[in-house]
Amino acid sequence: MFNDTFIQACYGKPTPRIPVWFMRQAGRSLPGYRELRKKYDVLTLTQTPELAAQVSLEPIQRLGVDAAILFADIMLLPIAMGKEVKVVDNVGPIVDDPITSSEDIQKLRPFEPDNAVYLQQTVKLLRRELQVPLIGFSAAPFTLASYLIEGQPTRTWLKTKRFMFEQPEAWAQLMGVLSEAIIAYLSMQITAGVQAVQIFDSWVGCLAPSDYRTFVLPHVQKIFLALKGEGVPRIHFGTNTGAMLRDFSNVDCEVIGVDWRIDVAQAKMLIGNKAIQGNLDPAVLLASQETINSKFDELLSGLPSRDGFIANLGHGVLPETSDKKLTTLVEHIHGK
Ligand code: CP3
Repeated sequence: MFNDTFIQACYGKPTPRIPVWFMRQAGRSLPGYRELRKKYDVLTLTQTPELAAQVSLEPIQRLGVDAAILFADIMLLPIAMGKEVKVVDNVGPIVDDPITSSEDIQKLRPFEPDNAVYLQQTVKLLRRELQVPLIGFSAAPFTLASYLIEGQPTRTWLKTKRFMFEQPEAWAQLMGVLSEAIIAYLSMQITAGVQAVQIFDSWVGCLAPSDYRTFVLPHVQKIFLALKGEGVPRIHFGTNTGAMLRDFSNVDCEVIGVDWRIDVAQAKMLIGNKAIQGNLDPAVLLASQETINSKFDELLSGLPSRDGFIANLGHGVLPETSDKKLTTLVEHIHGK
């Protein structure tokens, strides 16, 4: 029987048990994935439908989570737009010719579904197998722009901020081009069969709230509005967004994802009627099972209601996490 507790919770409806999934569940903490990685690099895995589907299915079978996430990466979109991207082990995405000017932005191709046929095939394979909903995703324009401008992962985002402040018109142009591409990319995933979408603005919390409002929010609002008619729940996720959460939530979506730097009770107050997803610190999974379970209980007791709550971490599963602890946590959550 199809388990739709995750979808019901996205719409704020009561569910027989609390749905749970984990960001980055289809990956580095799982033994089957690690075996596959001995033979294939990450981009090959994401671009080979049979293998990508196998990776997405592993956490469903092994952990018993209530939703699957497409095995893909946020950098597949810029690749489809013509950028050369390598994924380097233990570093992350490296972009050739990082963007420095308006001329560089003009070289980006609009996204065409024909340039990501493999993703459509992965979605179709997964829908045949799954008895839980499949989540599609994209990065938000700020997070994507940060990789395209920096050329590599950063923890200061100085090139990105400098570009934004020094070249506000080119910045708006880049946000516009990326937003159009994100809308087309997510629409393609929905047409192929994903049953929910999550937009990851993983790094936007590095901005001042007023700069978020000026340089980012209008573009994100446009993306969510464009996806409104698609009939699937839309999740807006970011980290470090506590100080801008009211603005961050001011988009037309069903679910807000938050990290552990804010109490769920306070987050819930700021986001209003929308459902909430989160927010255990992924580092909690490194502790004993007793501590993990009691940290979850603490989280749950802070929530005014269980309706509209999707249990998750506040960011991705850490590579050193034991899959047994994840499985036991899922059982614990389902027993609540
Ligand atoms: O973690 C997040 O903030 C979520 C958004 C995000 C993804 N990829 C989604 C993703 C971000 C910011 C990235 C960039 C990226 N891509 C990084 C992080 C670099 C940095 O700045 O810290 C890395 C290491 C990659 C490359 C990559 N993507 C690898 C090595 C893998 C495989 C498995 C893993 O988890 O290490 C991915 C897969 C990936 N990236 C998924 C998602 C949602 C699919 C797996 C899943 O969600 O279950």
